[in-house]
Amino acid sequence: MKALITAGGKGTRLRPITNTHNKHLIPIANKPMISYAIEAVAEAGIREIGIVINPDTGSELQRALGGGEAWGVKLSYVMQEAPLGLAHVVRVARDFIGNEPFVFYLGDNVIVGGVQRFIEQFTESGDQCRLVLARVRDPERFGVPELRDGRIVGVVEKPAQPKSDFAVTGIYLYDRHIFEAVDAIAPSARGELEISDAHQYLIDHGYKVGYSEITGWWKDTGKPEDLLEANRLVLDRICEQPEGFRPGQVDGQSDIAGKVILEPGATITGSQIRGPVIIGARTVIENSYVGPFTAIGPDCMIRNSEVEYSIVLDRCRIIDADIRIERSLLGREAEIIRCKTKPMTQKFIVGDQSRIELT
Ligand code: G1P
Repeated sequence: MKALITAGGKGTRLRPITNTHNKHLIPIANKPMISYAIEAVAEAGIREIGIVINPDTGSELQRALGGGEAWGVKLSYVMQEAPLGLAHVVRVARDFIGNEPFVFYLGDNVIVGGVQRFIEQFTESGDQCRLVLARVRDPERFGVPELRDGRIVGVVEKPAQPKSDFAVTGIYLYDRHIFEAVDAIAPSARGELEISDAHQYLIDHGYKVGYSEITGWWKDTGKPEDLLEANRLVLDRICEQPEGFRPGQVDGQSDIAGKVILEPGATITGSQIRGPVIIGARTVIENSYVGPFTAIGPDCMIRNSEVEYSIVLDRCRIIDADIRIERSLLGREAEIIRCKTKPMTQKFIVGDQSRIELT
């Protein structure tokens, strides 16, 4: 069994952060989003993983993930020259996969509970394809299955009238017949080879398409609010064992409550931290409040400020901001700073496609 993980895409709804960085490297609880997908397949015993990259951001990704040593796996990189759809991704990965069954995993999907169970169910079932489904409130945003007697009898991509309240999530299990399907289908109205059309092809040609259901948490992280929610969920789980604070990291005037991880060299003085929270290496928090579900990256400075339910990336500075910063996503080296000079105006130097909400 091999795995194929997508890491391309433009991440348009996460601009401006994705103007300069690959979406899959945006951290969730201070680890790149894609590392959760790699961990999940590694945990299921898969050692050969193909990462599908695009020409724009592929090298950044290769630098960040390397050969997979950190996870005890072998990462290979598969180039998709143009964004022609998920079925096209499968097409270009044919040489890497060979004749083996594989898990196809969209690298921007975050789930709780891993994928081992789905792999076992796929292997036991003898299905040619197994889709992992999740019940959602807005199925029209996804590939939607039609179910009958425990089988999938149809799949439609983003239907106006969904035939069930399930979404096909970004976790798929295939044997080699998927290659026949992705070669046979034609591009959709949006010009892409849709993975749902490949699934429909398998159904129409008498192949067995089964499903497993995610009963826990699943999110495809397209928008900032999805990232914040994924961050909340992951923090809630990973912080179960607070690390022992090293001497000198937290002064006597600070108050730390709940599950809090301080990475090496982070220092807290005169501050209140309410977990679950992770604070990155060498970050300094002074006379501030950091509230639940916040991930602060490495080398940040937060002074005389309040931050809650937010993701703050590397080297940000939040200084004297006497408003509470909440539900926010700050890209690398962003600064929110109160200046004491007159006149008392608000001054913004804001990159393309940034968003500031004033209340
Ligand atoms: C893709 C698939 C869709 C699936 C979704 C899951 O949609 O085409 O069938 O439900 O991923 O994340 P996209 O995110 O490309 O719109």
